[in-house]
Amino acid sequence: MSDFIVRPLVSADVDNIKKLHPHIQLLTLGVLPEYQHQGLAKRLVGQVITSLHKDPSVPVPPVYTHVCTSNSPARAFYEQLGMKPFSPAWDPAGAPYVAKNIYPGYAALQSTVESKKLFGSRDAYILVGRVTA
Ligand SMILES: CC(C)(COP(=O)(O)OP(=O)(O)OC[C@H]1O[C@@H](n2cnc3c(N)ncnc32)[C@H](O)[C@@H]1OP(=O)(O)O)[C@@H](O)C(=O)NCCC(=O)NCCS
Repeated sequence: MSDFIVRPLVSADVDNIKKLHPHIQLLTLGVLPEYQHQGLAKRLVGQVITSLHKDPSVPVPPVYTHVCTSNSPARAFYEQLGMKPFSPAWDPAGAPYVAKNIYPGYAALQSTVESKKLFGSRDAYILVGRVTA
């Protein structure tokens, strides 16, 4: 499943993948530090899926996102939702695919020691999975 979704995305064939393999793409997700660890992001993702998945006769579409390789907390968050780093079938080592240099390195995201820890890398893992609301 992941190969079908991610391969065309990686090759930027986004129009084709939208038609052939519907999916939900999470682009930006953030909870202010003082409100973290209260289940808000999990509820938000659940509500997005519920609002997009109107027809119970079709399966919930897979969810896809990309996460900075230095952002271990976000990766842990997505993994507990049921998403996994995409490992391409064409890589015999089965290592997680790393999308190189996709973040421009915004200074604002790297202005503190803490934010630099999370957003210091320009590279991303691609995470994919079926998430139940
Ligand atoms: C990632 C983020 C959105 C999670 O928001 P949140 O509201 O705190 O997450 P939730 O409370 O819904 O967490 C649900 C589960 O995810 C996991 N999780 C969440 N934050 C985690 C962390 N910092 N480290 C490890 N696991 C974490 C836990 O399993 C948690 O369940 P638990 O609280 O019962 O242990 C938040 O940390 C954030 O805004 N980070 C900065 C911005 C960012 O990195 N966004 C993602 C960019 S791709």
